[in-house]
Amino acid sequence: MTKTSVLFVCLGNICRSPVAEGVFRAKLAEYGLEHDFEVDSAGTAAWHSGNPPDSRMIKAAANRGIDISGLRARKVTMDDFHQFDFILAMDYENLNNLQEIDPGIGKAQLGLYLEYAQDYQDKEVPDPYYGGDEGFNTVINMVEDAAEGLIKSLQNQPVK
Ligand code: 4NP
Repeated sequence: MTKTSVLFVCLGNICRSPVAEGVFRAKLAEYGLEHDFEVDSAGTAAWHSGNPPDSRMIKAAANRGIDISGLRARKVTMDDFHQFDFILAMDYENLNNLQEIDPGIGKAQLGLYLEYAQDYQDKEVPDPYYGGDEGFNTVINMVEDAAEGLIKSLQNQPVK
């Protein structure tokens, strides 16, 4: 079976998208679907390339039993638009950034991750970088909700 591939994208790839990746992987494992997916995350900015996630997000994720400490930030590449079925942005700014560089000939469907959320009405995962600890937990709650919704949506409507 061909795998469904999902790339999560934020600005720095050290707070929101790495935890979106970690939470989505954990949900896939919970449902026994980890072998059906390729999952990664990236940033539209390169400032933190090569760095681990923000220590505050590593800690907030660890408190939920999710280890994201081994992830390393990278910038979105042109190849990503060919490699991934879905490229899901954490907010409008990053969706716009992606749309500006999308060569338009890849297979990737671009969208906002929170379009898949079931409990949250918000469309954007707020950037927790300059805020307090609670912001990191809110991000995790939001991406958990969207992960459930995305898995449900893909099971009802397989990509291939
Ligand atoms: P992220 O958060 O996009 O969720 O990884 C940010 C990380 C770093 C910065 C901004 C947002 N920064 O300005 O360095």
